[in-house]
Amino acid sequence: MESSASNKVGQRLVFHETGVPLEKLQVQAFSPPAPTAGQVLVRMLAAPVNPADLNFIEGTYGVKPELPATPGVEGCGVVEASGAAAYQAGDRVIFLRRAATWATHTVVAAESLFKLPATIDPMQAAMLKVNPATAWRLLHGFGKPEQGAWIVQNAGNSAVGRCVIQLARDLGLRTLSLVRRPELVEELTQLGGDVVLVDDEAGLVAAKAALGGATAALAFNAVGGDSALRLMNLLREGGVHITFGAMAKRPLTVPNGLLIFRDIQLRGLWVTRWIENAPDAEVRGVYADLAARVAAGTLVQPVDSAHPLEAFPAALARLTAGERAGKVLFAP
Ligand SMILES: NC(=O)c1ccc[n+]([C@@H]2O[C@H](COP(=O)([O-])OP(=O)(O)OC[C@H]3O[C@@H](n4cnc5c(N)ncnc54)[C@H](OP(=O)(O)O)[C@@H]3O)[C@@H](O)[C@H]2O)c1
Repeated sequence: MESSASNKVGQRLVFHETGVPLEKLQVQAFSPPAPTAGQVLVRMLAAPVNPADLNFIEGTYGVKPELPATPGVEGCGVVEASGAAAYQAGDRVIFLRRAATWATHTVVAAESLFKLPATIDPMQAAMLKVNPATAWRLLHGFGKPEQGAWIVQNAGNSAVGRCVIQLARDLGLRTLSLVRRPELVEELTQLGGDVVLVDDEAGLVAAKAALGGATAALAFNAVGGDSALRLMNLLREGGVHITFGAMAKRPLTVPNGLLIFRDIQLRGLWVTRWIENAPDAEVRGVYADLAARVAAGTLVQPVDSAHPLEAFPAALARLTAGERAGKVLFAP
């Protein structure tokens, strides 16, 4: 039997079979185990609900759960007990590997942790691993666009989309973002978006006019279907169209002419693969850069609401609320 770190009873969300998250999740009490050599016990401060977490519970994600499982691809916590010299109680950390973060406590291998500046906001830090790094890879992993080059994207108000806008602004690139809701145009422009338009056929006409004859070096597609096609139509010859999400759950339709006459390149990105396969020093260097931006307040993701674990039905209900203003998090 595992030895317990304390007599304190922790809590975690678990699912015993894949399916609809609201139907499959349960709250479970457990005794957080004491860390063995090389392990660290982390008390969770905050963990967001990402689309990938829902796909993980549904069984449709690139990683299949070992059941029963606790979801949570990322989060921020504080070290409570350490079996590794590199970490002391009180250190603020995030996890570079899946860590079952929808819990009050989690035990992980020390080598999978990343230590944060002590001053960083835990809510913002909880959202550092996935979406900022995805935006970073989109902007750095597919060639080096020249200064002032245009980047086009859909789901511009998503967490990734907002990170793209802020990072591109600081890298000297220009963004044209498509959104579903017209009320977001002003907000994303304030964030640093150069052009923000509604994602429909009239928006495509307006986008071509806004580019004034220019075409985009890169297109970031988180939606699929017709929206993905609109982005293709804004690309330059040889431009790269990167699919990293499928919010509309609709496949891409690619006109022959865009391949024959414009030679656009269709690529994909899964940030998990980059984290696991890139040299550790490269990954940690990117996170150090992103953490500094988050701590300085130049890379911000809005928070819609924070919920205790046992309020997971309310947290999941917020995800489908049309007026959601940012990420939904668990703050145990
Ligand atoms: N491949 C990777 O490594 C990777 C990494 C991170 C994220 N992702 C993916 O990137 C996407 C965005 O993630 P996120 O965490 O940034 O999202 P998020 O903050 O939860 O925002 C979701 C976005 O999707 C839009 N949306 C929702 N349903 C839609 C639909 N049926 N059709 C069109 N748009 C829809 C939302 O628009 P409204 O606000 O108008 O509802 C919003 O812009 C997801 O697909 C996620 O799985 C992939």
